[in-house]
Amino acid sequence: MKRIGVLTSGGDCSGINATLKAIVEEAYKNNIRVTGFLEGYNGLVNDLAIELTPTQVSGVLQRGGTILMTSRCEEFMQESGFKKALKTLEEEEIEGLIVIGGDGSLRGAKKLAESGIVCVGIPESIDNDIYGTDMALGVDTALNIIIYAIDIIRDTASSHKRAFVIETMGRECGYLALMSAMASGAEAVLIPEVEYDLNSIMNRLKQEHERGRKYSIVIVAEGVKKTQEVTEKLKKEAGFDTRLTILGHIQRGGNPSVFDRTLGMRMGIKSVQSIINKKSSVMGLQGNDIKNVAYDVVFTNKKAFSQMMLDFARLKSR
Ligand code: ADP
Ligand code: F6P
Repeated sequence: MKRIGVLTSGGDCSGINATLKAIVEEAYKNNIRVTGFLEGYNGLVNDLAIELTPTQVSGVLQRGGTILMTSRCEEFMQESGFKKALKTLEEEEIEGLIVIGGDGSLRGAKKLAESGIVCVGIPESIDNDIYGTDMALGVDTALNIIIYAIDIIRDTASSHKRAFVIETMGRECGYLALMSAMASGAEAVLIPEVEYDLNSIMNRLKQEHERGRKYSIVIVAEGVKKTQEVTEKLKKEAGFDTRLTILGHIQRGGNPSVFDRTLGMRMGIKSVQSIINKKSSVMGLQGNDIKNVAYDVVFTNKKAFSQMMLDFARLKSR
């Protein structure tokens, strides 16, 4: 094998550059050269290819974002765009491709694998909604940022006797909200996966407020789409002077945590080895091992919370 390709697609996160470094170094160790395609699938459709050498990936391990850039590419999803992508791979003499991306990007990788390309997917998404891996790349860093932000907010909340509603990202998945609620000691959490009772939450917080509680932290997953309503209710019904903080894209950047650096590097190394073995699959952290997970397994199953986390969510959503 002489040459492999790599691209980063969809929403970015921290830990991608560490993954790219591991991919290039593992490839060079095996005398394989690496082509980087810029801007996700756009780089395949429009042949935006660059040579990725060990020199180019030195000093990037600790940086957030992606040096290859990313995008969401409509054209790739159309027949004509997909054919252009296949042509690029042929012309650039790519013998295996690594796609680093979220759910949508991995669906694209599956389609490429079904077309005969040796294609390995690395699950990258702060949402942690991809089946087959305990943790996707970027989740741990995002959680650390959320907790850092909540700790700061708690200081000012308690000085002013205020309630804060904090909205976390995650699309339709409540993972970031639920884990950060547990790790920050939030009073309430609302996630799409668990039924909540807003009136009961308000009564509980009101009683705590009347008993002298200095502040309240309520975490709402963006997928619930109720952030504004919860904020208004806290003001009107629970008696708290209330503020809303939407954490937004700060959750997607910053230096990757140790966990994300090492996860990215382990998945990067394994992905190159899988390409050498001509094994199309998705990299999955299961326990302490990185496994090859079949695309069909990833896309025919839905990731679920453990019973303990569901019980915790129920306790905090009423
Ligand atoms: P993410 O990978 O972060 O979930 P998107 O869902 O926006 O982000 O997907 C990123 C890109 O992956 C899309 O712009 C498109 O090019 C490609 N993609 C998404 N879904 C599919 C699909 N079902 N089949 C082929 N390609 C897809
Ligand atoms: O999928 C990652 C994610 O950050 C989601 O949590 C969020 O809903 C979405 O991407 C935001 O997308 P964009 O960066 O296009 O605004």
